[in-house]
Amino acid sequence: MLVLGIESSCDETGVGIVELDGDGYMDIRADQVASSMQQHARFGGVVPEIASRAHLEAMPQVMRAALDEAGIDKPDAVAATVGPGLAGALLVGASAAKAYAAAWGVPFYGVNHLGGHVAVANLQGQKLPHSIALLVSGGHTQILEVDAVGKPMRELGTTLDDAAGEAYDKVSRLLGLGYPGGPVIDKLAAQGEANINFPRGLSRAEDLRGEHRYDFSFSGLKTSVARYVEKAEREGRVVSVEDICASFQEAVADVLTHKAMLALEDTGAKVMLLGGGVAANSRLRSLAAQRCAAAGVELRVPPFRLCTDNGVMIAAVAAQLIHEGAQPSGLACGTDTALEVETPLVLPVG
Ligand code: KG4
Ligand code: ZN
Repeated sequence: MLVLGIESSCDETGVGIVELDGDGYMDIRADQVASSMQQHARFGGVVPEIASRAHLEAMPQVMRAALDEAGIDKPDAVAATVGPGLAGALLVGASAAKAYAAAWGVPFYGVNHLGGHVAVANLQGQKLPHSIALLVSGGHTQILEVDAVGKPMRELGTTLDDAAGEAYDKVSRLLGLGYPGGPVIDKLAAQGEANINFPRGLSRAEDLRGEHRYDFSFSGLKTSVARYVEKAEREGRVVSVEDICASFQEAVADVLTHKAMLALEDTGAKVMLLGGGVAANSRLRSLAAQRCAAAGVELRVPPFRLCTDNGVMIAAVAAQLIHEGAQPSGLACGTDTALEVETPLVLPVG
């Protein structure tokens, strides 16, 4: 059975096709993505209206390319991200998906974007057991407890302000390094020393004991980098951009992995899944590997192409749900910008 997934919650227009066999194993048959990232560059972050228009323009070509790649005329089911994400962007993808499903006479499944990020861990031939997922991108920063792919997840922690990738993009902008910030800061950090002690948000003893044990805050870190640069300028000192990048990166990787390790310890989960665009970060990967090894936890990082937003992840979560006998959502299914992680699939109305 062939399941097609459409992703459009942020700035990537993705169409992926997976083939599901009777045992629940999935093979990737097509993976096409168009990104509007460059159109947002001069604004330093994703502009929702530009993203929506870009999805609308890219959708027919990306769909055509995916069908050609899989060598098929139509799939057996169509799925789309119906939340969480940007309102206009979600509407374009979900409306397109429903139109294709209606035209082809196949069922439509409206799925949760975050469930998709977790579902890619099942594409490597291994089932994902009870685990902690650390999802970090320009749009999300979450610690989720996962029982299995396609099952409701529990959000243990999230950011109270900026997403981790957003913090990279904002710091990059204030250092004059352009957008997106992650790759350039990662590169410069490798040439510097993490010798500036920037703050780790929500990491005081009382935070770790209280309701924000697994939550993040990156706005103080961003402000701290800005103050450091301003102070040096005022005093006429030359700063090392490489050292600032390395120190900022250390603070981000430290707090992300520290809190994920707490969640692993507290839940007893033995697998950590790392996903989202920031999963490309070299320091985050090495620190996660080091801390997981020390705690006897298996670290799973899907191939980078599947860590960032794509259509395959949406097809994968829908295929898993179909394998378990889930009902289609139906064409009356709406979008929800704040869809909760407890909802892997939006159920039929009525
Ligand atoms: O998942 P993604 O492609 O798009 C969404 O935000 O949904 O993630 C993009 C984010 C950007 O904020 C970018 O700066 C960050 O991922 N990123 C990185 C790295 N590569 C991309 N952050 C840190 N280190 C990297 N190497
Ligand atoms: Zn995402």
